[in-house]
Amino acid sequence: MPEPSSAPDSATAERLVAAAREAAGHAYAPYSKFRVGAALLFDDGFVATGCNVENVSYGLTSCAERNALFSAVGARGAGHKIVAIAVTNLNAAPSPPCGACRQVLNEFAATDAVVYFPGEDGPETQPLAALLPFGFHLNPQ
Ligand code: THU
Repeated sequence: MPEPSSAPDSATAERLVAAAREAAGHAYAPYSKFRVGAALLFDDGFVATGCNVENVSYGLTSCAERNALFSAVGARGAGHKIVAIAVTNLNAAPSPPCGACRQVLNEFAATDAVVYFPGEDGPETQPLAALLPFGFHLNPQ
């Protein structure tokens, strides 16, 4: 028997993608013009959203996914796991989460968390574990 999955049903997934899209509307992206939104669904039903916030220094830009995560932890602590992640953009382009965001999201994600994102051939769903096969973790001695 496969393990029961905590992946949301399709209506919940659609709502999560819509929340990400709404967040993308808040993006501050005057340099790249690439407007990204992310929505994180936690195991208690809480949804956190974020958008990318760029900076004139470029390097200090902060991605939508990490902004969503940090706002959630800042608002209510680190006691809940992410079960699903939606990433989208207003540029009709593929936008899977970047490698840095994968590592950061993984810290707070359930082992079977799924990611919805615009892929090369349209909407795509992948387990976070498939997007981050060798994530860094510590095995303290
Ligand atoms: N960006 C995100 O918000 N998330 C990602 O996973 C990749 C890239 C943003 C950063 C920058 O503001 C713009 O997209 C172009 O790289």
